[in-house]
Amino acid sequence: MDNLTQFAYVVAAALFILGLKQLGSPATARRGNTISAVGMLLAIVAALLDQGIVEYQWIAIGFVAGGLVGAAAARLVKMTAMPEMVALFNGFGGMASLLVGWAAISPAAGTFTLVTIVLSILIGGLTFTGSLVAYGKLSEKLGSGAVMFQGQQVVNSLIVLGIVAGAVMFCVEPANHLWLYLVVGLSLLFGIMAVIPIGGADMPVVISLLNSYSGLAACAAGFAVDNNILIVAGSLVGASGIILTQIMCKAMNRSLSNVLFSGFGSGKVESAEVEGEIKPISVEDAFYVLEAATNVAIIPGYGMAVAQAQHVVKELMELLERNGAEVNFGIHPVAGRMPGHMNVLLAEADVAYDHLLEMDDINPRMANVDVAIVIGANDVVNPAAREVESSPIYGMPVINVDQARTVFVLKRSMASGFAGIENPLFYKDNTRMLFGDAKESIGGLVREFG
Ligand code: TAP
Repeated sequence: MDNLTQFAYVVAAALFILGLKQLGSPATARRGNTISAVGMLLAIVAALLDQGIVEYQWIAIGFVAGGLVGAAAARLVKMTAMPEMVALFNGFGGMASLLVGWAAISPAAGTFTLVTIVLSILIGGLTFTGSLVAYGKLSEKLGSGAVMFQGQQVVNSLIVLGIVAGAVMFCVEPANHLWLYLVVGLSLLFGIMAVIPIGGADMPVVISLLNSYSGLAACAAGFAVDNNILIVAGSLVGASGIILTQIMCKAMNRSLSNVLFSGFGSGKVESAEVEGEIKPISVEDAFYVLEAATNVAIIPGYGMAVAQAQHVVKELMELLERNGAEVNFGIHPVAGRMPGHMNVLLAEADVAYDHLLEMDDINPRMANVDVAIVIGANDVVNPAAREVESSPIYGMPVINVDQARTVFVLKRSMASGFAGIENPLFYKDNTRMLFGDAKESIGGLVREFG
């Protein structure tokens, strides 16, 4: 039986790695997801059967209950609320590792096992509360601003000292549960303290980092209960989470420590010095300009997701192409509210992948673009990131739509984007504002073509 279990674990680990590899491209991502899910099912069943931990009927009940909750959550959650759901599930993963570590405490545990137990409790605990705060900030149940107060660093340092002392004492005196309670309590507190000083705009990075932590916690729990597949799965989550974190930091041109400790978004937002005036344009006039364009770039952002405009955007793309224009999409790595948000929406509307250009590929072509259509994007096309040194997003790479001959910005009002800052793009000479819901405005353009 043990050999069979270990073999099932090796197959499951291979499926995880294959699945992760396929998740790297939009063309194979769905298959990758299925392959990983099959690997996880195999791993769960093998772990449960191993040493007769539970009987078949419990596996069946768990399978149905978990499957129903997962399927309902995946179906019911709105696309725009996906990052919140990821944050919440992440937190539960952390709590699971904390409980597994706790349950593994036994008088027979050696020092190594005690160290892994304390690590799974510590990392699992801070992942749990940190993820809940991230969930609260993203869903706007908590204020999304950075919470900073005097002496914060001192308080945090004291908490860390307390955790280290408690962890060491727990390993020395495992029978004294006071140390355990101290580590659990301080880890939960530290998760909150670590995330409150980070502004809402940085939550995707935080969630990705916490995702990495939940993997490390699971890995430690795997050592604590001596389960190989938990160690492998935890390490994969830990490594992929940290890679995604790095990609996002690079996309914002910021270091991880800047994201975690600078208090970005704490309310001291300098508004950019804006010159020029707003020039609104009607759907009819926008149509005449587009009809004459031979090179069009479409830059989608969060507003396209809110308006669910992806299908009409695809229609507009086809009409422009039929009219002889070359049409490309410029995808910023943090457009929308989750990694790959725009890719998912455009894939749903069947836009071919070769039309999607990453920021670094579309920027050099921008000077040749006749019309750049910005659909519900704001921060990711904000030239203040290049031009205004006092701007909180200064240095963040953006899509340089202002370098196109004409820019249409489709949004409902002059409201700011997620970072809460003014956008000088709206006041530039070559910018025209097409006010209204993105789906309606694009629908209007489609009708003009028709
Ligand atoms: P934002 O800067 O948030 O701007 C979105 C714009 O869409 C708003 O200015 C809004 O203006 C407009 N909008 C909303 N609903 C609309 C509708 N129905 N029709 C037309 N326009 C609509 O979005 P972005 O440019 O995509 O930038 C993303 C921001 O989110 C960045 O700051 C990024 O750091 C942050 N963030 C990213 C992620 C990831 S990983 N992608 C996750 C969380 C946060 P009106 O209200 O005037 O319409």
